[in-house]
Order: sequence, then C-alpha cells, then structure tokens
Amino acid sequence: MFACAGYRVRLHDQSESMLSRGLKSIEASLKKLESKGYLNNTTQAILSQIAPCQSIEELAGSDLLIEAIVENEAAKAGLLQKLSTLCHENTILATNTSSISITRLAQATDIPERVIGMHFMNPVPLIQLVEIIPAYTTTPDTIQAVKTVVNTLGKNRYYLQTDPALSSTVC
Ligand SMILES: NC(=O)c1ccc[n+]([C@@H]2O[C@H](COP(=O)([O-])OP(=O)(O)OC[C@H]3O[C@@H](n4cnc5c(N)ncnc54)[C@H](O)[C@@H]3O)[C@@H](O)[C@H]2O)c1
Repeated sequence: MFACAGYRVRLHDQSESMLSRGLKSIEASLKKLESKGYLNNTTQAILSQIAPCQSIEELAGSDLLIEAIVENEAAKAGLLQKLSTLCHENTILATNTSSISITRLAQATDIPERVIGMHFMNPVPLIQLVEIIPAYTTTPDTIQAVKTVVNTLGKNRYYLQTDPALSSTVC
C-alpha cells in the first residue's frame, strides 16, 4: 500500500528465501489489483518502489518502520528493540500486531514515545479503515504523524484504539 502511494519502501525478512517469497506475494496481489483496475500505476512501476534488504541495518534512516513478523511477543519485542537502535530522531516505529500490548512492546525499545500500533483492516487494498493504537507512552505528535501518513495512503477512516491488552475503543 505504501509503494502504491508512491513511498520508497524497504522490505526486510529474516532470510533471502522469505524475502523473495514476500516479494512474489506482493507481485501476485498487485497483478490481481491491476487486472481489476484498482491501481493507478503498473505492477512493475509499484514494485520498483520496493527495495529488498537482506540485512536489518539497511533499514536505518527510514522515517517509518512497520514491524509485521510472527505474532509472538518475545520475537516482536526483540526485533523492535533492535529496530529502535536504527531510528533517527523522528523515526516512528509501528507494529502490526492485533493482540499484543503496544505499551509492553514500547517498553522493550529505546524510543517508547515513538512506538505505535497500525492495524490495517482486510482486504487491505480495498478497506479504508485503519486502527491506530498508541502505547501509554506514545506522544500526541507521533499519533498525529501516523494519522497524516494513513491519509496519504487514501485511507481516510481510522479509529484510535486503546492498547488491546488494556481496554476498548476510546474514540
Ligand atoms: N490486517 C492486518 O493488519 C493484519 C493481517 C494479518 C496479519 N497481521 C499481523 O501481521 C503480523 C504477521 O502476520 P502473518 O500472518 O503475516 O505472519 P507470517 O508468519 O505469515 O509472516 C511473518 C513473516 O515475518 C518473518 N519474520 C519472522 N521473524 C522475523 C525476524 N526476526 N526478522 C525479520 N523477519 C521475521 C517471517 O519470515 C515471515 O515472512 C502479525 O503480527 C499479525 O498479527 C496483521
């Protein structure tokens, strides 16, 4: 979705084969969307916006990092901690979890004020709704920046959700 919106994207996975599997899966989804007329660019042009990265260090300097690995708190906390050491002073570190406490994940990092949950409703290319889940430590500036980015993806409906481990919707 980010590449479709014109962002330059760096994609990382834990092995070359998984990285290649991810890219093939993105290509297949894009082709399907293109054939149905949902894209405003070609599959190849969109794919050219995505740079595969075999080492995590290549993600350094990104403005927004979105972690979407296996739904396991220890694995996510470990990776988010590593990612937080690659962030510049304004980088936002998002996690795609739908069930793990964002507050606990944020505490595992060096930048708990800039950690946030972003959960895209399926089917992601077609549904405009995105859940934005701040940790207790997330600053208002971080929340605002994520709302702005979500709007640039053409997703103009979002709701702020409290930490999934804590309570229910606030607004
Ligand atoms: N609508 C949504 O927003 C939505 C939909 C589905 C899944 N999710 C969330 O996305 C996350 C991934 O779910 P999935 O079903 O795609 O899982 P998956 O197991 O299919 O894929 C996880 C990927 O992460 C990679 N990975 C695992 N550990 C890694 C590490 N340390 N470093 C780099 N890469 C690593 C794996 O190789 C694999 O390619 C989960 O948190 C899940 O809850 C969100």
